[in-house]
Amino acid sequence: MEKKRETWSWRGAFVFAVIGSAVGLGNAWRFPYVVAQNGGGAFFIPYLFALLTAGIPLMMLEFGIGHKYLGAPPIAYGRAKKDAEMVGWWGVGAAFVIITYYGVVMAWAINYLYHAFTLAWGTDTTSFFLFDFLKLSDGPGILGSLNMPILAAYVIGWILICWIIYSGVKGLGKVVMVTATLPVVILIILALRGLTLNGAMAGLDYYLSPNFAALGNVKVWMAAYGQVFFSLSLGMAVLIAYASYLPKDAEISNNVFIASLADAGIAFLAGFAIFSTVGYMAAERGTTVAEVAGGGGIGLAFFVYPQAINLLPGATFFGILFFLLLVTLAVDSQFSLVEGIVGSVMDKWNMKRGTALACVAIPGFLIGLVYVTSGGLYWLDIIDKFVNSYGLVAVGLAQCIVVGWIIGPDKIREHVNALSEIKVGKWFDFFIKYLTPVVLIYILISSLITDLKVPYEGYPGWALNVGWAMVVLLPVGSFLLSKLKTSKETEAAYSEETNISA
Ligand code: ALA
Repeated sequence: MEKKRETWSWRGAFVFAVIGSAVGLGNAWRFPYVVAQNGGGAFFIPYLFALLTAGIPLMMLEFGIGHKYLGAPPIAYGRAKKDAEMVGWWGVGAAFVIITYYGVVMAWAINYLYHAFTLAWGTDTTSFFLFDFLKLSDGPGILGSLNMPILAAYVIGWILICWIIYSGVKGLGKVVMVTATLPVVILIILALRGLTLNGAMAGLDYYLSPNFAALGNVKVWMAAYGQVFFSLSLGMAVLIAYASYLPKDAEISNNVFIASLADAGIAFLAGFAIFSTVGYMAAERGTTVAEVAGGGGIGLAFFVYPQAINLLPGATFFGILFFLLLVTLAVDSQFSLVEGIVGSVMDKWNMKRGTALACVAIPGFLIGLVYVTSGGLYWLDIIDKFVNSYGLVAVGLAQCIVVGWIIGPDKIREHVNALSEIKVGKWFDFFIKYLTPVVLIYILISSLITDLKVPYEGYPGWALNVGWAMVVLLPVGSFLLSKLKTSKETEAAYSEETNISA
């Protein structure tokens, strides 16, 4: 008797898990600084455009593929078309790159949870973050030593993630009920508090005022697509794996709309909390909002949120609560990414959960140590930029080409429609075949031209070459993995499941 595929423990678990995966540091940490780096309100139109032209159609596609072919990405694509397995591995590879640094940002949040007990960040939260906490070196060439408090939190984080994943899909269904809902409540409180601060309006003006001139800047568009991919967990193997754990009669299209809109809404909310406080900080320092926000980069959330917390009555209590919740935001996204990879390894080689987890977590943990050093922030910035702007967008494009031109988008649409209340129209075929790939090709080419002309954030060429090498290695490694033999048991279990349902 073949073993049966794991499924979610209760009906709502899938949508909670998808929201838990999507809503993460991408919303509360990455979205605000990407908005700030790209001219504030200028970002909204490209962001919405990216959500509609790539985010929603690709989420539909990934759910459809996972559910129709009952497998994590490599196996699901391999079943749809023999030579398409590589596309699945490409997403798995991108997810692997992300888990190595995501765990470190999660470790920062764990450290800040500890610091919240004494409000250790003081009043100059920026210098605390960069110098006291990260002990930032002078450039990517100087890694320095491992940062012990971050290392300790990093180990705790990985143990937690492994423990949750080891408990299996049924266990995940329970965890996500808490991790997907609590952070939202806190964000609402922080946003409301932010609005009452002196200078808040200047911050919100910067955040919300449309700047149409910036629409001509291709950098803003690239950032918007990268952010939508990152935030919705697209091209990262997660959504396909999660959809493969759905029961046969699951609702799909409703869940796409719920999850994608919830994710965008929560990012928008986090922006309120951040930018009202940035406005306050600018007023206090007698400088402009652009100056405070623009200088923050990747660390923005780690010096703006503590600033907001300092201003709340009962700051210590609130600080603890807030960073606890930031950790929960990170946890369900990180375990979703690791689960997508673990699920792929389990499916391909019919491995036990624990063995597959060890094969993924040990190298992931070791590679991530680079970001735990004094120069780690620079590498985190570089790798995050390249994996989002190129890695994920390329996976999205490859999926459009394979589904649009080889598998047939109508097959996926009909599968989704047979199950869903909200029927997906023929627009889906048009998007997957033409519109989304054309836009993604445009974004990739423009990114390439821009990044080759102007080195990203002024980093030295050799450091950026590491980012380029990673981008190139992803498809090469995926191709090689796709050539390895799939376990016979996996295929036998699939035939059994599909025969039962036939
Ligand atoms: N989607 C996850 C996030 O936004 C990766 O953090």
